[in-house]
Amino acid sequence: MHYNVGIIGATGMVGQRFASLLENHPWFEVKVLAASSRTAGKTYKEAVGERWAMDTPMPKAMEDMVIMDAQADVEKIASMVDFVFCAVNMKKDEIKALEEMYAKAECPVISNNSAHRHTDDVPMVIPELNPEHIEIINAQRKRLGTKRGFIAVKSNCSIQSYVPALHPLRKYGITKVLACTYQAISGAGKTFKTWPEMIDNVIPYIGGEEEKSNLEPLKVWGKIEGDKIVDATVPSITTQCLRVPVSNGHIAAAFVSFENKPSKEDILKAWKEFSGVPQELELPSAPKQFLNYFEEDDRPQTKLDRDMEGGMAISIGRLREDTQYDYKFVCLSHNTLRGAAGGAVLLAELLAAKGYFD
Ligand SMILES: NC(=O)c1ccc[n+]([C@@H]2O[C@H](COP(=O)([O-])OP(=O)(O)OC[C@H]3O[C@@H](n4cnc5c(N)ncnc54)[C@H](OP(=O)(O)O)[C@@H]3O)[C@@H](O)[C@H]2O)c1
Repeated sequence: MHYNVGIIGATGMVGQRFASLLENHPWFEVKVLAASSRTAGKTYKEAVGERWAMDTPMPKAMEDMVIMDAQADVEKIASMVDFVFCAVNMKKDEIKALEEMYAKAECPVISNNSAHRHTDDVPMVIPELNPEHIEIINAQRKRLGTKRGFIAVKSNCSIQSYVPALHPLRKYGITKVLACTYQAISGAGKTFKTWPEMIDNVIPYIGGEEEKSNLEPLKVWGKIEGDKIVDATVPSITTQCLRVPVSNGHIAAAFVSFENKPSKEDILKAWKEFSGVPQELELPSAPKQFLNYFEEDDRPQTKLDRDMEGGMAISIGRLREDTQYDYKFVCLSHNTLRGAAGGAVLLAELLAAKGYFD
């Protein structure tokens, strides 16, 4: 399996993650790096310079690649690659239009952006949870009038710890969920160098994050009906999202109630035994064990546990009964790996394995 790919928004925080993750990818080869017209024409090394925020150096093969203009060069880029990853910082309606331009140029788009997450024929996929939603792509292609082109998105980084942890518990009838998230600064495209105000600080507001955290799980748990995905109506979800002084890794403190309350052992067993289509297909970026429970009271910790299985596994701890809800627990996922670029690469692997790029 071999596909040529482009990274739209390659200079940004998520774009840099894509570049790093794809450096030695067994199926995907980066042929195009694109960003805004401000950056187009520079080499990747010139364009990113001091802004390189990854722990590993910039991939050698990409240093001298000349950045293309993501908006002006759509047709050219579409002719050079089999699909693109997209993570750009633009207005929502501009992103919607840009992604549709690529799709209509017969270039599939795997997007990290929120713009199309609630378009009802665009699948929003966490590959272990709702891989069957990719089947809506046929209906989307009909609407767009394309043969190959389509848009598939991943969900917001804030939901990627508690929603996977809740997923195998749905058989007990989840009625309500409360989650408080403690989110890393890389989620805002920042480092401590570029956002020194975050040192020794907590900010109790992340624009738009709570709406996403409340609503996106219901699309992930929705069903295909005809030519659209219809959102689930339960559980009722409420969240608070805080920015905390951590470089990478979003933690969530979650509370959950059920129609049929399981035992603690039932929950631990459901987490241990859960695996999905990515594990079955042995996709290159799939973690072997998706949900990992720690018995220690002081885990998971961002610094110790965010990189588990290449940052693609979810860690969970502190499961116990609660006085207001049936249970509470704490969970963690790496926000720019599982929560952003890594999750998108896994989704692309699923789509490749199912023939959607052919
Ligand atoms: N960081 C996370 O953990 C995370 C997680 C999930 C989703 N996301 C989403 O991913 C997207 C990117 O986030 P980020 O943190 O990587 O942002 P970022 O670091 O600010 O990077 C933004 C990227 O967008 C490009 N861009 C800006 N205006 C453009 C234009 N008019 N045309 C083409 N490219 C343009 C920038 O290129 P220039 O260098 O040329 O300006 C840069 O490559 C956002 O939609 C964000 O919500 C981020």
